[in-house]
Amino acid sequence: MRIDILTIFPNMFNGFLTESIIKRAIQDKYVDIQIHDIRAYSKDKHKKVDDYGFGGGKGMVLMPEPIFDAVEDIKTKDSKVILMTPQGEPYKQAKAYDLAKEKHLIIICGHYEGFDERIRSLADMEISIGDYVLTGGELASMVITDSIVRLIDGVIEKDSHLNDSFNNNLLDYPVYTKPVDFKGMKVPEVLLSGHHANIEKFRKEESLKRTKERRPDLLEKR
Ligand code: ADE
Repeated sequence: MRIDILTIFPNMFNGFLTESIIKRAIQDKYVDIQIHDIRAYSKDKHKKVDDYGFGGGKGMVLMPEPIFDAVEDIKTKDSKVILMTPQGEPYKQAKAYDLAKEKHLIIICGHYEGFDERIRSLADMEISIGDYVLTGGELASMVITDSIVRLIDGVIEKDSHLNDSFNNNLLDYPVYTKPVDFKGMKVPEVLLSGHHANIEKFRKEESLKRTKERRPDLLEKR
């Protein structure tokens, strides 16, 4: 899979691409992630990418031309273009599974002060990562990229995402490691029993109980 991200803040991605699972996925060629500075596509001699909005109002608005030129340059017949904006479709794990099947994603990071409305016409979909406003789409693009890359076959063990929270609209069950007794808080006996059927039953029950307590809205979707 290839992911191209268009941003006016390319340095924000340095840590994201050079640590942990994303770093390894890139090294092992499961994914090719390229960060593009929108300024590189500006035809202005000062590399300007935003300007005042028509009709007045605070703040600068991202101009359409550099972003149109960038997408035109990068797009292939397999590309899906995603625009990050708080006005987009609320992001869910099911969408991460869908996007993990794509060959090529182009992600445009919006800017909190706004982007020219005509940029919307480039996008196959608009995604919001939650009902709050970030200073730009950069962190949001990293959030969705992270959630997609870990689902690409081979990036992590399949079993470790089959039990993820939100699969089947359930939250994950609790897990424990050593020590068995930590400050009087004990690991449930059943997990030490070696009885696989009982462990499975315990986990299913805990998963349901936790979802009922914390996210009853998920159970309604089951
Ligand atoms: N840009 C700013 N806030 C955002 C959000 N919540 N989701 C996606 N992109 C954004």
